[in-house]
Amino acid sequence: MTLIDGKKIADDIKREIAAEVDQMVADGHRRPHLAAILVGHDGGSETYVANKVKACEMCGFRSTLIRFEDDVTEETLLQTIDELNRDPEVDGFIVQLPLPKHISEQKIIEAIDYRKDVDGFHPINVGRMSIGLPCFLSATPAGIIELLRRYEIPTRGANCVVLGRSNIVGKPVATLMMQKANPGNATVTVLHSASKDIKEKCAEADIIIAALGSPGFVTADMVKPGAVIIDVGTTRVPDATRKSGFRLRGDVDFENVAEKCSFITPVPGGVGPMTICSLMKNTLLAAKKEIYC
Ligand code: GUN
Repeated sequence: MTLIDGKKIADDIKREIAAEVDQMVADGHRRPHLAAILVGHDGGSETYVANKVKACEMCGFRSTLIRFEDDVTEETLLQTIDELNRDPEVDGFIVQLPLPKHISEQKIIEAIDYRKDVDGFHPINVGRMSIGLPCFLSATPAGIIELLRRYEIPTRGANCVVLGRSNIVGKPVATLMMQKANPGNATVTVLHSASKDIKEKCAEADIIIAALGSPGFVTADMVKPGAVIIDVGTTRVPDATRKSGFRLRGDVDFENVAEKCSFITPVPGGVGPMTICSLMKNTLLAAKKEIYC
């Protein structure tokens, strides 16, 4: 079994990006600039955004964090988005999700200029991805594809089961895995809360991508010997032995599944670091105007 080291790959990629940024700056360009909007104080979102800011430093990017309290109005957020859309000094920006219930996430996502949508959530980027046109790819799916590429895991003709159908992970990763590309070209089955025979379908899979947010859902009896397991889950579970009082648990019963498979991503240290790395890549592409002029 090979443990997929997402942390190492992500660090390698960030070094590659930093070298490119050094060259850009030496050539007289300004540094890529990522802005992030964070609403409220959700623990997970705070950690994600802090890690995104840290990754910007590692890559030599400028970053700006714009914070609002939970009671911010939708109108104020839309106004801030409008300012960022028009700010020529900002190459790309994200609005960290989830947002409080009184704000429509879809309305916020659609207000972002798709040319600065480095999260790849805008319908124009999602639509372009689905027909294989250049676009900002959603960060977690792009990170998963990059792991498969760097570990040279064969995907052509493979039976790939995607567990979960979220707009952020399940749907886009299923689209990328079936795209005629390498990695890709797989036969993809998307399973969700209304699916039947989940265990049997998983047991036939060469690749399982678990993105349900259900800790330990994928058990050893659901895994074919030699399968590739990509675990996207990052649920906080109580852990009194930790200073924080919690630890992250994936969607896969790692201890029992690891010994059966050929490749597996750990949680943490697998897909998570790659997600942030994909955001950095998109920001660099935005700064270089490589996708949209
Ligand atoms: N919340 C969970 N994942 C993400 C992400 O990739 N981007 C944003 N903006 N919010 C998230």
